Amino acid sequence: MRINLTINGRQRELEVSPHQTLLQLLRDTLGIHDAKEGCGEGVCGACTVLLDGRPVSSCLVLAPTAHGRQILTVRGLEEDGLHPLQEAFVRHGAVQCGFCTPGILLTACALLERDPGADREAIRRALGGNLCRCTGYAKILDAVEAYARGL
Ligand code: FES
Ligand code: FES
Repeated sequence: MRINLTINGRQRELEVSPHQTLLQLLRDTLGIHDAKEGCGEGVCGACTVLLDGRPVSSCLVLAPTAHGRQILTVRGLEEDGLHPLQEAFVRHGAVQCGFCTPGILLTACALLERDPGADREAIRRALGGNLCRCTGYAKILDAVEAYARGL
């Protein structure tokens, strides 16, 4: 089936199969590898993208349901250089690996879009579905909190 969607601001018209996931569409068809496959079952958050501004696990979204919608992957955050939240991650030493960081950034951006003054507890709750198996979350929380406070 044929769908139209916008990915990182670019309109695309694509042929997809009914059982293809949005993650497969991004990675296998379009070569956009920002979203990663971790668990493949909606648990880890590595495949997070924003669908009309809301974080979703793209491994659980069927590609045809993205018809007419806006998809943002982490590369879509950048305009003229890094997004200020990415800069906050760099400043606070919060950048981790390429599996977890893209989803964390997108989830945090979506939270701060709807709740710009989110406190640490709200940030922690929002990021509850983005797992890292290697290290702690303190610096990530520091970075998002600093950005929310305009620091
Ligand atoms: S790969 Fe989609 S949530 Fe883990
Ligand atoms: S999964 Fe990315 S640093 Fe642990």
